[in-house]
Amino acid sequence: MALPWALTVLSLLPLLDAQNPACANLTVAPMTNATLERISGKWFYIASANRNPEYNQSSQTIQAAFFYLTPNHTEDQILLREYTTMGDKCIYNSSDLRVQRENRTISKYEWGREHFAHLLFFKDPRTFFLAAYLDDEKNRGLSFYTDKPVATQEQLEEFHEALACLDMHKSEAVYTDWRKDQCEPQDSQDEKEKKTDEEES
Ligand SMILES: *[C@@H]1O[C@H](CO)[C@@H](O)[C@H](O)[C@H]1NC(C)=O
Ligand SMILES: *[C@@H]1O[C@H](CO)[C@@H](O)[C@H](O)[C@H]1NC(C)=O
Ligand SMILES: *[C@@H]1O[C@H](CO)[C@@H](O)[C@H](O)[C@H]1NC(C)=O
Ligand SMILES: *[C@@H]1O[C@H](CO)[C@@H](O)[C@H](O)[C@H]1NC(C)=O
Ligand SMILES: *[C@@H]1O[C@H](CO)[C@@H](O)[C@H](O)[C@H]1NC(C)=O
Ligand SMILES: *[C@@H]1O[C@H](CO)[C@@H](O)[C@H](O)[C@H]1NC(C)=O
Repeated sequence: MALPWALTVLSLLPLLDAQNPACANLTVAPMTNATLERISGKWFYIASANRNPEYNQSSQTIQAAFFYLTPNHTEDQILLREYTTMGDKCIYNSSDLRVQRENRTISKYEWGREHFAHLLFFKDPRTFFLAAYLDDEKNRGLSFYTDKPVATQEQLEEFHEALACLDMHKSEAVYTDWRKDQCEPQDSQDEKEKKTDEEES
């Protein structure tokens, strides 16, 4: 059980930019209950850089997105409810993410296969990153999330610094635009209905 994790750690080390000691703080989060607690709640997708062509293409179509994570500690699953704006339309989807504690990965079944990502923490506790293909320079990807629809200047700098730590350039990043969001009205309606349901039951 310790072996795959050890391999992951080793494969991460060469990525870290030795010139920048701050990169030592960009770490793959262990999949503990505390970690799951930290990422539970509502998050906004701010930006990503993806060298994998499939992920790159998909990221270009997203105008804005936010989502709710509800971890189930006993099942090693995280309920994902996502509100994505694409083509000026809101698309709602919900699914279960799977947690592989021993590999420090989270996975999602989409487009006919399981997709794996590492969860990274860096500086601000109100942000997190998902990284794909960390040990594959040609496919590497990094996505950035915050707890508010618009990232602060400091948070954007955190993202750019994290890209540099992974040997990626900030010119590779694509950003969402919260002004294009079409989902917030629907979310408010869903939340209201949920509250009414809870009050009635
Ligand atoms: C890493 O994070 C710790 C705790 O937030 C901080 O004290 C330290 O200065 C950081 N290290 C670098 C090199 O930025
Ligand atoms: C993503 O695809 C676009 C358009 O094909 C390309 O210009 C860009 O360089 C790609 N991004 C990355 C990070 O490879
Ligand atoms: C977690 O999953 C178990 C088994 O499916 C279920 O009984 C439990 O209610 C779930 N917990 C939460 C908080 O949803
Ligand atoms: C994580 O939470 C689950 C459910 O509450 C509990 O059964 C388990 O013991 C916890 N694990 C740790 C390491 O605390
Ligand atoms: C919604 O989720 C289903 C199942 O994971 C998936 O097949 C479908 O492509 C998703 N749709 C969107 C718009 O994300
Ligand atoms: C963990 O990673 C190893 C090596 O890549 C793989 O064989 C194993 O199936 C993974 N375990 C889970 C639960 O995904």
